[in-house]
Amino acid sequence: MLRLRMLGLLAIGCLSACQTGPLMTPGDDCNGCHRAGGSARAFTVSGTVFSRADAVFSAGLDATDVVITDADGRQLDLPSNAAGNFYTDAPLRFPIAAEVWRGNSVRHMEPRVETGACSSCHEELPKNGAEGRVFIDAHEPPSPTPRPTVVP
Ligand code: HEC
Ligand code: HEC
Repeated sequence: MLRLRMLGLLAIGCLSACQTGPLMTPGDDCNGCHRAGGSARAFTVSGTVFSRADAVFSAGLDATDVVITDADGRQLDLPSNAAGNFYTDAPLRFPIAAEVWRGNSVRHMEPRVETGACSSCHEELPKNGAEGRVFIDAHEPPSPTPRPTVVP
């Protein structure tokens, strides 16, 4: 019985985690594979947004806006999908600034970063000074796009 239930859980996890495509492996460092010379089409920015810094991979938050501003002031609004994933292959000049918008909430990343591989720092076991996953309050209503930004 317990075994069947565990298999069921694995199967549900696999719907998003085991197939390739927009909903794949939320929380993973997409650019690890999606890079020049990698196993999949290169992205310039990629990641997953959650409602908590320590969320499990399957708890991605949809309909949230990740706003990127590049070194030339070019701005992109990347809405998260059903898995919480966002990504683009648009050419950008680094370093980039990032904000996450949902309803009336905004979270602004203090440092500009030299890579768009958000989950290479914002992971379950975060690296390079990040405090956990990319996240925002899930109780705010999903945001309309595009959002204004307050990047200095
Ligand atoms: C372990 C390697 C790996 C990781 C990690 C990975 N992918 Fe993929 N992805 C692939 C492969 C292989 C394909 C299929 C080949 C292709 O379409 O380029 C693919 C396909 C895709 C596609 C469809 C291809 C296209 O051109 O639109 C999307 C979208 C995608 N992945 C998004 C993501 C996102 C978002 C993440 C991170 C949350 C991610 N992937 C993480 C390997 C990976
Ligand atoms: C080189 C490592 C690194 C990369 C890559 C990175 N971040 Fe960050 N991020 C940080 C650090 C360090 C902080 C400040 C500490 C914190 O709040 O986690 C931060 C903070 C944030 C915050 C603010 C959290 C708060 O306090 O409100 C958001 C939102 C964020 N990052 C989103 C992103 C997004 C989106 C990407 C991808 C475009 C990204 N980050 C890429 C290191 C990184």
